[in-house]
Amino acid sequence: MKDMTIVLGITGGIAAYKAAMLASLLTKRGAKVITVMTKGATAFITPLTLQSLTHQPVYTDIFDERDPSRITHIDLADSADLVVVAPATADFIARAAQGMADDLLTAVLLATTAPVVLAPAMNVHMYAHPIFLQNLERLRDVGYYVAEPGVGPLACGYTGKGRLMEPDEIVEFMDMVLTPKRMSGKRVLITAGPTRERIDPVRYLSNDSTGTMGYALAQMAWRMGASVTLVSGPVAIKPPLGVDVVNVESAAEMREIVLARASEQDAIIMAAAVADYRPGTVSERKLKKDDGTRSIELVKTPDILMDLREAKGRHTFVTGFAAETHDAEFYAKKKLLEKGADMLVLNNVLEPGAGFGPGTNKVTVFFADDTSVDVEKQPKLDVAKELLAMISERLQGQKDLANDQSVDSV
Ligand code: C5P
Repeated sequence: MKDMTIVLGITGGIAAYKAAMLASLLTKRGAKVITVMTKGATAFITPLTLQSLTHQPVYTDIFDERDPSRITHIDLADSADLVVVAPATADFIARAAQGMADDLLTAVLLATTAPVVLAPAMNVHMYAHPIFLQNLERLRDVGYYVAEPGVGPLACGYTGKGRLMEPDEIVEFMDMVLTPKRMSGKRVLITAGPTRERIDPVRYLSNDSTGTMGYALAQMAWRMGASVTLVSGPVAIKPPLGVDVVNVESAAEMREIVLARASEQDAIIMAAAVADYRPGTVSERKLKKDDGTRSIELVKTPDILMDLREAKGRHTFVTGFAAETHDAEFYAKKKLLEKGADMLVLNNVLEPGAGFGPGTNKVTVFFADDTSVDVEKQPKLDVAKELLAMISERLQGQKDLANDQSVDSV
């Protein structure tokens, strides 16, 4: 969003105070945020707050023509890369759905050709009212994006659907709107995080995986338009917006979910650091300390990636990950072959800025056709973007091939 012009519309609801946080987040991301407030909004929050946070002018009046050479509402509409209205009240949505232009914000909305994001917030019964829903549907039909409110306690005392989407999630939603939809209509399943293999009710074997890479892939795939299932081991990361998260603990649980859903996927990305071994027996009681040494017999966990060879769909594109500390390339290529994957992403975990943890990654990607690509060190979300671009290209390639074959057979 860096250097983009965002027109932030604020309308008159109690959630207007959260628009200040949204303005601040967008400004920190490097966007130029121009605020347009309805009269109602100024009853809840002052224009000076927004001006101070964004360092940009704030508009409240359609007749406030500051520059005689320009027409404000057209100028704002044309300069916007995206218009976001947060919160969008029922009244504002009704006026917008009628195509009214009776204040500056509705006039900007009519005049702009930029994408529009509406983040409604209101009482639960207002949100469920058929007239309101019809108005919202009308706006959806003309291509406006709706950042759906959450369920929770509302300022009116009710609990239900109507809470403004959290500002950080609105930013993520805007990122999705601005991302080209290279994976539109694709179903993608991603595994992430470590697995835990129980020793007893309070102890387990696990590893250092934080899930960051898998979560970044899920977030980016959603932004690109895919419908995403994230099968996650235990991690401390917030679920990505728009993604269906299935939480699992052990390799066996992860296997069950992945295999059950494998055949319907266009792509499967196995970014989880699945434990290779588990204790042979799981004690139902906490193991007690005694004087002697103890040993745990370890048995192999199922290799999910290997089992996918049978369970996946005919055209499912499968990506594996490998974390190696030595002879990395040799093992990566061996794994690609043995596990029958289409693509294998190698991280050398000993290299600075690569492998486990939040922050950056640096990987080499190997393909089944013996080609490889180096992806330079960068934040994991950017690595995810590059990996998904490669996957979507290959999926497109498969589609083109299928089309060619059907032409041949005519
Ligand atoms: O054999 P290795 O564990 O190094 O292979 C790594 C790849 O295999 C990763 O994609 C990982 O998610 C997957 N894997 C698996 N089941 C296991 C172990 C690894 O699917 N039991």
